[in-house]
Amino acid sequence: MTEIVDLLLVNAAQVVTCAGPGPKRGAALADAGVIERGAVAVDDGRIAAVGPTAELQSRFRSRVHMDVAGKIICPGFVDCHTHLVFAGDRVDEFERKLAGASYQELLAAGGGILSTMRATRAASLDELVALGRRRLYAMARLGTTTVEIKSGYGLDTAGELKILAAIEQLAVAAPQDIVPTFLGAHALPPEFIGDPDGYIALVCEEMLPAVAAWRNASLFNALGVPVFNDVFCEQGVFDLAQSRRVLEAGLKIGLRPKIHADEFVSLGGARLAAELDAISADHLDATPPEEMAALAASQTIAVLLPGVNFHLGSHHFAQARRWVEAGAAVALATDFNPGSAPILSLPLVMAIACRYQRLTPAEALNAVTLNAAHALGLGDRLGSLEVGKQADLLVVDAPDYRHLAYWLGDNLVAAVIKAGKPLEM
Ligand code: NIG
Ligand code: FE
Repeated sequence: MTEIVDLLLVNAAQVVTCAGPGPKRGAALADAGVIERGAVAVDDGRIAAVGPTAELQSRFRSRVHMDVAGKIICPGFVDCHTHLVFAGDRVDEFERKLAGASYQELLAAGGGILSTMRATRAASLDELVALGRRRLYAMARLGTTTVEIKSGYGLDTAGELKILAAIEQLAVAAPQDIVPTFLGAHALPPEFIGDPDGYIALVCEEMLPAVAAWRNASLFNALGVPVFNDVFCEQGVFDLAQSRRVLEAGLKIGLRPKIHADEFVSLGGARLAAELDAISADHLDATPPEEMAALAASQTIAVLLPGVNFHLGSHHFAQARRWVEAGAAVALATDFNPGSAPILSLPLVMAIACRYQRLTPAEALNAVTLNAAHALGLGDRLGSLEVGKQADLLVVDAPDYRHLAYWLGDNLVAAVIKAGKPLEM
């Protein structure tokens, strides 16, 4: 008996499943799950079967049939760390950085994140949505089907809620699944210079309750999409005690932590992430060995962001091989933002991670799919080609998956299928 499904893709040079169990560590992380001459059956927006073409052709007939000979099929990419909603740009600072100014110097002088804060405070909600929508469509063309977006350029209650409202509108206006993260503690706003603890009190006592009220009435709550709570734990930004206060206050109202830790200097953020069972700890460029072991032994995903080091012209990349050898569940993301990572492409991030961090192409692919989905608490629904999961998949114009990380600056994505439907881009 043949079963009828909505869509059958056949004759792929490879179907690369990135199948779990996830999150993947060690030897599992090195296995992309390749099926030669593979096929995928999709029905009702979900994956109905994955296997060799001959087998699926005998089991299924389909309403729509796609022959993808000479190409591969892989999961849609999951970008689990972005600051996508902002106004303005930092192109002047880019030039000053090229002339020698450091990222931290620009921030300390009232530029950096604070310059984007000023532009974002001045922008209307509609402007932010229009800017975000354009960026999300560009990401979709590059194969990204799920995107986490942080607030953090408002730095007052109204400004942060405006960004969260923009993120919520983008969940309807853009083709991806969107996951929101509150990052009120991203930088110290000018109103609180000299009083960081006063700002942390505002985040904990005013902003977080407002975010919880917003979350409860939001589309995300209705969809069962989690909302996370993040903090920039860094020398010259927020210290470990302040970071702990923010994350613990979020936990009390049901927001699971994320943390920007060890981007430049280690303050103990990686250990704090493990202690608080954060969903992820991100950056991790300067993590000392003992904390690496603590995080690797925990459930927290280690999200590495090598596009940042690349853009800042730094060679202090996170030690990805050591993280993998320690047994960490490693994910990769863009950190897309106007200051430290104006980079929309996950294949480019994979390319950098392979060259400068010595990840293998298979590790890099698992890191932007299944492990990235786990960094958003969505690993049971997204991130791999497994029966029952949402049918988010890419047709890539290459004969094997290693080409994704090999070619630089091209876009090999030939088609994007989101929840079973081909995207018009
Ligand atoms: O992840 N590190 C803190 N936040 C961002 C940078 C944001 C910005 O510079 O605007 C990051 O690198
Ligand atoms: Fe970031």
